[in-house]
Amino acid sequence: VILRLLITGASGLLGASLINRSRDALDVIACAHQTVLRASRFEVCNVDLVDAAQVDRIIKQYRPDWICHSAALTNVDLCQSEPALAYQQNVHASINIAKAGERHGSKLLLISTDSVFSGEQGNYVETDHPLPINVYAQTKLESECRVQAILSQALIARVNFYGWNIQAKHSLAEWVLKQLQSGSAVSGWTDVYFTPLFTNHLADLLLEMVRLDFQGIYHVGGSERVSKYDFARAVAEVWGYDPARVLKTKSKESDLSAPRPGDTSMCCDKLSHALKRSLPDLRGGLNAMRESGETDFVSFKQSVA
Ligand SMILES: NC(=O)c1ccc[n+]([C@@H]2O[C@H](COP(=O)([O-])OP(=O)(O)OC[C@H]3O[C@@H](n4cnc5c(N)ncnc54)[C@H](OP(=O)(O)O)[C@@H]3O)[C@@H](O)[C@H]2O)c1
Repeated sequence: VILRLLITGASGLLGASLINRSRDALDVIACAHQTVLRASRFEVCNVDLVDAAQVDRIIKQYRPDWICHSAALTNVDLCQSEPALAYQQNVHASINIAKAGERHGSKLLLISTDSVFSGEQGNYVETDHPLPINVYAQTKLESECRVQAILSQALIARVNFYGWNIQAKHSLAEWVLKQLQSGSAVSGWTDVYFTPLFTNHLADLLLEMVRLDFQGIYHVGGSERVSKYDFARAVAEVWGYDPARVLKTKSKESDLSAPRPGDTSMCCDKLSHALKRSLPDLRGGLNAMRESGETDFVSFKQSVA
């Protein structure tokens, strides 16, 4: 059965990957805000998700089976300095989407984050108590709660990922690569742990979960808990740079304005048991990113310029 899927944040890091990975198998509507997308293989639309009337109109027009809500204000420091904006872009937008989905019979996948947790413990399971320590994470947790109150069967995926951006910004892996390519040393935090996935692997998992009609909260991460330092070293190794160029630093030494949680690694056993297989590890993800660098990424830019 071909599902009709509307993907918000289609010009973003994860949204672009979702489009990329779904375009042969699903009927897709790619939805951005200010970025102009052009495509021959699927429909595109521009909508401000903060505007409830616009959201309702678009969902009524396309009547997707599923809305995959990946759009958000993801700049953690901007969210900290502009909490009202963060609340509007993240919480209000999610409420608008959930209400429109409820009204027009669309199911909803909400993309959330591992940073809903305080980072004191690590290896978090879905039933652990979330305790966000910055505004961005507060708005993401609030979005989860509001969406569940409107659509009790919503699928909520807590994620963390890296990959190729189609916009002029850098995911963690891209930033590390840029530093290595320019001959600079790379600062790697030894006190921040996570379980990231390559966007293509994450997109494939999310699309499978949608096809299988999953509901409720799932942690969707990689099978390995690594520090940002370990991650940067692995990037160097996979791309053939000297890993000794990655220097051990602490997140507390940085001048970021929003507090960052220490260990937001997630236990993803609920998902791997449901799918009856293990999730990708770090080397598998980085190797896939390296291999996809000159293929998927470019072909996506050609179809969505
Ligand atoms: N990046 C990470 O490592 C990470 C980790 C955990 C969770 N997440 C979550 O994963 C999701 C995707 O993140 P990302 O890094 O892929 O995002 P991103 O690259 O920052 O892209 C954000 C997307 O949201 C769209 N958007 C922003 N405001 C909008 C509005 N008012 N109306 C409509 N669209 C709007 C943007 O559209 P325009 O380009 O048109 O402005 C863009 O497509 C988010 O929900 C984020 O919270 C991300």
